[in-house]
Amino acid sequence: MLKGVGFIALLLAVLAGGWWFMAEQAPVAVDDFLEQHWAYPIPAQGQPPAEFSALEASVAPADCGSCHAEQFQQWRGSLHSHTMGPGILWQLQIADPKTAQSCLRCHAPMTEQLALLSQQRGWSKLTMPPPEYIPPDLHQQGLVCAACHVRAHTRFGPKARVPVTESAHGGFVEHDAFADSRFCANCHQFAEDGPRLNGKLREDTYSQWRATRFADEGRHCQSCHMPERKHQWRGIHDPAMTASALTVEITWLQEEGNIVGATAAVTNTGAGHDFPTYMVPEVVLHLEYVNAAGEVTGLARDVIAWKANLALTEELFDTRLAAGRTRTLSGRHDGMVQPGSIRLRIQVAPRQQYRLTFESYLASNRRSLKPVVLDLLQQAIAETRATEYEFIAAERALPGVAN
Ligand code: HEC
Ligand code: HEC
Ligand code: HEC
Ligand code: HEC
Ligand code: HEC
Repeated sequence: MLKGVGFIALLLAVLAGGWWFMAEQAPVAVDDFLEQHWAYPIPAQGQPPAEFSALEASVAPADCGSCHAEQFQQWRGSLHSHTMGPGILWQLQIADPKTAQSCLRCHAPMTEQLALLSQQRGWSKLTMPPPEYIPPDLHQQGLVCAACHVRAHTRFGPKARVPVTESAHGGFVEHDAFADSRFCANCHQFAEDGPRLNGKLREDTYSQWRATRFADEGRHCQSCHMPERKHQWRGIHDPAMTASALTVEITWLQEEGNIVGATAAVTNTGAGHDFPTYMVPEVVLHLEYVNAAGEVTGLARDVIAWKANLALTEELFDTRLAAGRTRTLSGRHDGMVQPGSIRLRIQVAPRQQYRLTFESYLASNRRSLKPVVLDLLQQAIAETRATEYEFIAAERALPGVAN
């Protein structure tokens, strides 16, 4: 009798997916897990288990989305679904296989994606169509769900938030690494021997984060970029996210009781790393006086960016704001009268360095470019421009006349 109960329990466990067995294994430390998880290229998934339905076997994001609708909608609107846009595609058109492969490590890291790109570019003579569980455009879909979550058809994810009642794809393996900044560091942090400019690693977000109070408080990248596990990854391309990085305080410059100008103190209180973290974006601050008629007079201007020449061999300046740091800008203006106000207007070009590089490449190579490259390059330039925006970060009315 006992034997029978044991067999049925085992059978149920297997039917339900069998993740109990996986949970039984000794816990793997985060670093060890990630070393394995982010081996590049991510090994081919191989044949799916025979008991998987076609839907469970598929690595197409849209198929994951038929059960995980929320994550799919959010991911689709995020930059992670756009890591194979025209900005990289035009470069892959002129790259050799080795360079292309070095880019795919972060932009499309699955073996299947590399194989499809190789077929498309003619680097591989293999003409066989991919098996059904691999959509033929997987290499164009960017950082897909499976790149972060699926290894050899097994799902890996964070600790479940609510007890799991349903099962699919043979269950899943939980690991703390998904809630850890080191998970993101794989692509958002260069190794110590990575490319540098003026001694500073060109991608250093994880190290910057480590030096902030957020790291001390255990607030990982996910707490700001995936709140409630949302798959949006909003960053400097998003005006509200950028605004949330800064606290602005406007104060008056006074002489003999009269207001003769203003100061804006801009502090990075909300980014868990330098503002901005990379050398790509450019942020321009404008301190302005607006009179009753709405006419604007500029009082001061400042640039927050890490600027290099186009070859990235020489640093021009580095005015990024480390977490907790303040930049002040002040300006004077005669005849500031109320009702009027002082405001800080912020212009953001999230892809400025790329835009300048692309435009310069186009200017010197226009005649020799193949139509397909020219077309992608022009799309890429248009895309960098379309990301630019501005917003009013703070505005303060001139105080009433004291009487
Ligand atoms: C047939 C429906 C179905 C399909 C298709 C599907 N899943 Fe799932 N998935 C589930 C169910 C059910 C669970 C367990 C309960 C839950 O977490 O919703 C689950 C759990 C997960 C988890 C674990 C969540 C956690 O809390 O850690 C991850 C990660 C995951 N799936 C990723 C994927 C990915 C990536 C794909 C596509 C490659 C995919 N799933 C396709 C139904 C599906
Ligand atoms: C270590 C990971 C990593 C590698 C390797 C890498 N990138 Fe990126 N790439 C990134 C990250 C992270 C961003 C986002 C930067 C940002 O948001 O400012 C990015 C952004 C870009 C963008 C701008 C966004 C877009 O889609 O237009 C382009 C273009 C680009 N990379 C091209 C390349 C090329 C070409 C290579 C290979 C020579 C490459 N990258 C290698 C991580 C990487
Ligand atoms: C860049 C890597 C990355 C990509 C791409 C990605 N995820 Fe996730 N996903 C994560 C991380 C990290 C977490 C855990 C976040 C946390 O714990 O705060 C997570 C959590 C989840 C969970 C658990 C959600 C919950 O509320 O408990 C599911 C399910 C999931 N992802 C499915 C998907 C699906 C489906 C896609 C594609 C549409 C996808 N993920 C794309 C990294 C990724
Ligand atoms: C306390 C919240 C917070 C934490 C923690 C945090 N970020 Fe950010 N992050 C922001 C805000 C706000 C922005 C928008 C302003 C900016 O670009 O700095 C941003 C921007 C970014 C960008 C856009 C590119 C750029 O040049 O700024 C990337 C990429 C990024 N974060 C990655 C990460 C990674 C990876 C981690 C963990 C190592 C992390 N962030 C930790 C809040 C945070
Ligand atoms: C496999 C590589 C990879 C991993 C892992 C990864 N990212 Fe990214 N991430 C990228 C690339 C490439 C881009 C650039 C997308 C673009 O602009 O085309 C990017 C873009 C972003 C952006 C948008 C920045 C902006 O300019 O607005 C944020 C925020 C971000 N990632 C945060 C994270 C966080 C948080 C994690 C960990 C949960 C993570 N990423 C894991 C490769 C990765």
